[in-house]
Amino acid sequence: GKIVSQVWKVENQYKSLDCVKKLVISINGMTPGPTIYAQEGDTVSIEVNNFLMNNSSTIVHWHGIRMIGVPWFDGVQKVTQCPILAGDKLQYVFLVDQAGTYMYHSHWGMQKSNGPYGMIVVSPKDGVVEPFKYDHDRSIMLSDWYHKSVEDQTKGLFVPPFTWVGEPQSLLIQGRGRYNCSFASKGSVCQSNNTDCSPYMLTVDAGKTYRLRIGSLASLSALSFEIQGHNMTVVEADGHYVAPFVVSSLYIYSGETYSVLFTANQDPSRNYWMAVNVVARLPNTDTGLAILNYRQNNTTTPTTAPPIGPLWNDTASRISQSLKLRAHPDRIISPPKTSDQKILMLSTENTGEHGLLKWSVNNVSSIWPEYPFLISLKKNFTNAFNQTSSPVTYDYKNYDIYSVPKYPNTTYTNSIYRLKFNSTVDLILQNANTLEPNHSGTHPWHLHGHNFWVMGYGTGKYDPEADLEKTYNLVDPIMKNTVPVHPYGWTVIRFIADNPGVWTFHCHIDAHLVMGMVAFFEEGIDRVGALPNSILGCLKH
Ligand code: C2O
Ligand code: CU
Repeated sequence: GKIVSQVWKVENQYKSLDCVKKLVISINGMTPGPTIYAQEGDTVSIEVNNFLMNNSSTIVHWHGIRMIGVPWFDGVQKVTQCPILAGDKLQYVFLVDQAGTYMYHSHWGMQKSNGPYGMIVVSPKDGVVEPFKYDHDRSIMLSDWYHKSVEDQTKGLFVPPFTWVGEPQSLLIQGRGRYNCSFASKGSVCQSNNTDCSPYMLTVDAGKTYRLRIGSLASLSALSFEIQGHNMTVVEADGHYVAPFVVSSLYIYSGETYSVLFTANQDPSRNYWMAVNVVARLPNTDTGLAILNYRQNNTTTPTTAPPIGPLWNDTASRISQSLKLRAHPDRIISPPKTSDQKILMLSTENTGEHGLLKWSVNNVSSIWPEYPFLISLKKNFTNAFNQTSSPVTYDYKNYDIYSVPKYPNTTYTNSIYRLKFNSTVDLILQNANTLEPNHSGTHPWHLHGHNFWVMGYGTGKYDPEADLEKTYNLVDPIMKNTVPVHPYGWTVIRFIADNPGVWTFHCHIDAHLVMGMVAFFEEGIDRVGALPNSILGCLKH
């Protein structure tokens, strides 16, 4: 393969991405940052230069790339490397071993929500044919946007009294949104004619078929995406080919990528809205809009009202999309028929010290260790984190997932799960009632370093004694790296622990991650090569 290299300058800049001026993080002046185009088998080399102000550290995660042989470049704070300090730089070098659509983003606290993210597009090897055809390839990044700074959002979560981040002010398509300036808070600068917030425009030629790669790095929101008047055929999810199915509206959770095909087959004398709406939470954010422009129309705004999206609380239709996602019949990778280890993971919202809210897995909320886990394990720093295993189950017989937790106080840990190398692991993700009566959320769980098979979904409590395994899809399960767990439901994923390193597994909602909804898996640590000096900066005194 070739070497694809970029040199990045990560810095603060004022931008008005939704017409409201804000200090954002840009990469080489861009928010979202530059797209990385590579081919399967290429080596990607990115030199990250941290020019952030206020002494801010950064770190970059390559979301969906397995980082085979280089777990130290996975880019997670306190897990795989020391931070890239302000004024410092780090060169990430890794192999892209699978064609498909991936993303990158900062994994430093909640920094990602301030703009440092972008797409990674990996084309197949020469001569390899994909199981569908199209004329043009385009990509868009979806995200949500807050006017409050990341620092203030973080303070709200960690300094009493607890202040929730709240709903985002805007939804962005390819970094552009539109806040209604008449609602802008006093003292903020809102200019509806600022070019930073002119809608993203996708220009198409009538009759042509487009592959649109869509990624979501929303901080909080689950989204629906539609192109007015045009159906979309889903063909790829998280780098895996899907048995094609048609949707008018696509649900996409933070951390997921999809490719859809659509044909520009509508009246070419007008333009159409591309619209993003919040689902799964009571929305308090305007529709995010971009324009599908048939080439002869120049820049005219569509004259019809934008789509309002599906009902936000139509859980059944979201589950139905989850169930439709199956591997393409010609590209099935069969999962092992059984697993060697099952880990039951109950997610709950809990109370911590000083009335701060936390998220927990099996009633422990993760806190960060002194040194990155990978470094401590390689260097045998046995005092650096709790050596007891993270809990592999919870008291499922007595736990009522439909009620507010009886004992909401959480405990904290900086422990990890240690997996047998090459073993097959099932993670059974259980969702429950939050601290608010009659409420359960949707959580997109993302696993670093692996693809996993999505074995099944269910509603209610997963009963380990009920032989639910017979309901698993052993025929054509899709492989993904991010999967939703629906309200009061469960999702089972299966993966092979064959990638030496320490891997993060977490809810991709930024606030939930920092509130403790995260776990860590070690596998094959003795097979991890010598750590490069470039990631060891925090060990020097
Ligand atoms: Cu895209 Cu650990 O995240
Ligand atoms: Cu979550």
